[in-house]
Amino acid sequence: MKILVTGGAGFIGSHIVDALREAGHAVAVLDDLSSGARENVPEGVPLHVVDIRDAAAVGRAFATERPDAVCHQAAQMSVSRSVREPRFDAEVNCLGLINVLDAAVAQGCRRVVFASSGGVLYGDVTAPAPETTPADPVSPYGITKWVGERYLKFYAAEHGLAAVALRYSNVYGPRQNPHGEAGVVAIFLKKLLAGQAATINGDGRYIRDYVYGPDVARANVIALTGDVAAVQPGTLTSLNIGTGVGMDVNEIESQLREALATLLAARGRSATLPAPTHGPARPGDLRSNLVDAGLADRVLSWRPTVAVSEGLARTAAWFADRA
Ligand SMILES: NC(=O)c1ccc[n+]([C@@H]2O[C@H](COP(=O)([O-])OP(=O)(O)OC[C@H]3O[C@@H](n4cnc5c(N)ncnc54)[C@H](O)[C@@H]3O)[C@@H](O)[C@H]2O)c1
Repeated sequence: MKILVTGGAGFIGSHIVDALREAGHAVAVLDDLSSGARENVPEGVPLHVVDIRDAAAVGRAFATERPDAVCHQAAQMSVSRSVREPRFDAEVNCLGLINVLDAAVAQGCRRVVFASSGGVLYGDVTAPAPETTPADPVSPYGITKWVGERYLKFYAAEHGLAAVALRYSNVYGPRQNPHGEAGVVAIFLKKLLAGQAATINGDGRYIRDYVYGPDVARANVIALTGDVAAVQPGTLTSLNIGTGVGMDVNEIESQLREALATLLAARGRSATLPAPTHGPARPGDLRSNLVDAGLADRVLSWRPTVAVSEGLARTAAWFADRA
């Protein structure tokens, strides 16, 4: 199959590009490089440097590539920026999505997979939330992810697309940036590698569900290309993608510090890393947020394969190699 990945120069998108190519599919990338990087796009993969807000340019890229399926990862993905600039957030995440869906329909795409977010849809939950949990997004980013799913459902029904919304939990891993929902991993690693103490907001008892980027990429490959009974023309299937395992920020910091210390010692470098300090709590931070990915297991036969301790160690190694 040929798949066009929007946001394919970014963190999750580039892992999807790698996984699609490994599975033998042809891939093209559409990305404005606002937070993604050209070097994340493998040689030989066509890169259309296009802003999804530019409907004509999106249309031209789709007409050139004529993909069978589209994987829509491009987004304004910072919760805090969405709070400061709700109009910009909506322009990229709603109008940009509509441009991508219109171009997909015009070029006869059959399947669309959309990066949604369990974290922002479900709010404070103490047990892993299933997809039936009522969505109650509080930030403009959460609102545009929710609206995005509704547009997807409309386009599926109106144009016969087979649509899948993957509601990620907090995605971390190599190539991640500090702005995403698991941005704390990149922030702490950069601090520790600079020999500085990580600053934990408040008491750090903020529980999240951390899922490894390449595991998320594998879910996308199955949703895009798999022979999946639930993925049918005219329907939207929304699925959580996470581990259901909760870890708080204190545990994340200590696991990262331990992984880095082991790694640096093995490389003959100083392995004494400063203990964290605590800063003020961030107003509005959810205490607990976890997703139940049981439905993704039943529908896609997808399960996370990389334990958080292993994923954090791999991520630490990636950042250490570039420090
Ligand atoms: N990282 C997470 O924990 C997480 C959790 C839930 C959902 N998501 C969603 O997953 C998707 C990928 O996120 P990521 O973490 O890889 O972020 P990222 O910033 O690394 O990737 C986003 C990509 O989209 C591109 N992009 C942004 N605005 C664009 C525009 N107007 N036109 C074209 N390209 C544009 C960026 O250059 C970047 O390459 C996003 O839709 C995000 O909302 C991420």
